[in-house]
Amino acid sequence: MTTSQPIYLPPPSQKGSVSLEEAIAKRQSVRDFTPEPISQSQLSQILWAAQGISNTRGRYRTVPSAGATYPLEVFVVCGRNCIEDIGDGIYHYDLAHHSLTLHHKGDVRLELARAALDQEFIYEAPVDIVICAEYERTAMRYGARGERYVHIEVGHAGQNIYLQATALGLATVAIGAFHDEAVREVLRLDKQYKPLYIMPVGKPA
Ligand SMILES: Cc1cc2nc3c(=O)[nH]c(=O)nc-3n(C[C@H](O)[C@H](O)[C@H](O)COP(=O)(O)O)c2cc1C
Repeated sequence: MTTSQPIYLPPPSQKGSVSLEEAIAKRQSVRDFTPEPISQSQLSQILWAAQGISNTRGRYRTVPSAGATYPLEVFVVCGRNCIEDIGDGIYHYDLAHHSLTLHHKGDVRLELARAALDQEFIYEAPVDIVICAEYERTAMRYGARGERYVHIEVGHAGQNIYLQATALGLATVAIGAFHDEAVREVLRLDKQYKPLYIMPVGKPA
């Protein structure tokens, strides 16, 4: 069901059946996905790993951030019948409430794939996680060096997505090859957000 009300995701679990060492050993980039939907609890886990609140220190996140300036914003591009009980659309991840807010209705995966050099697995995966940055949050504190810090930080978030997907038996690939402006237009992003990574997530074929 698609609604403009926030979609509260199930709380993330902090116990899993795959060890960290196994997840690191098994992690690999996968570019073949089945069209099978993923569950809300799987999506919950992926978003929490990417940028959720860690339970250890209250407002801190699962990913480190230079000076805790937190420049990253996460969007979810979802196809029709691709996430359990969630309609097609572009959603913003509200990490404070661990919920999704509908940003734009409709399946834009094909447009997103076109904006990324026709990497067709972006369209084939049920879900694409798009990590964007507002550089100013970090640049305000660190000046020109802030840009470097933002790029390092998105790598941390991407690796967490890889490892969490692996631990759940899901698959992903980090995509950096795309036209920034085209992706911004497909996602209807506000001017201050720059897309840095697209990560399709789904069951490996
Ligand atoms: C910054 C960055 C950008 C990448 N961009 C793409 C991409 O646009 N398309 C793609 O298929 N893979 C992309 N990859 C994935 C790499 O191709 C992949 O990590 C590499 O081949 C090593 O394979 P592995 O991840 O399975 O160890 C990217 C990886 C990184 C770190």
